[in-house]
Amino acid sequence: MNSVRNRVEVLHGVNLGELGRRDPDVYGGLTFTQLEQRIAAFAGELDLETRFFQTNHEGEYVERLHRLDGLADGLILNPGAWTHYSWSIRDALELAGLPAVEVHLSDVDAREEWRRVSVISDLCVGRVTGQGPDGYREALEVLKRVLAE
Ligand code: DQA
Repeated sequence: MNSVRNRVEVLHGVNLGELGRRDPDVYGGLTFTQLEQRIAAFAGELDLETRFFQTNHEGEYVERLHRLDGLADGLILNPGAWTHYSWSIRDALELAGLPAVEVHLSDVDAREEWRRVSVISDLCVGRVTGQGPDGYREALEVLKRVLAE
């Protein structure tokens, strides 16, 4: 039995796999692969293990959340646009029952009105927005503290 709680599942949703082709003024210049590498490096510095998943299919995202039992201790979620309306992802996150931090590369609260809504934020132990890739480091730090409690 693994007594060290250090396994973090990083779940990216719809359109995030296309980073690098999306507006760099909003999302920065990294490709999605570079972003995952950056997150893995941050995690390594904090002695956290990461596993990555990205999909454009809402049902696959939900099913990934269903299957985390025994595989992850904490979650980092950037569901993309699903953040703003997917009640099925919200229900699945609740079911997963793991500490989760919501991350957005862009400052969603300073953009269109509809992006200000998050249907998952009240289930999360933290929320980081508008800090680009560095926001994931902050999210990992939050999770590290929560997992040590
Ligand atoms: C995003 C913000 C969402 O509003 C948007 O739909 C995305 C990316 C972000 O990381 O800033 O796809 O989650």
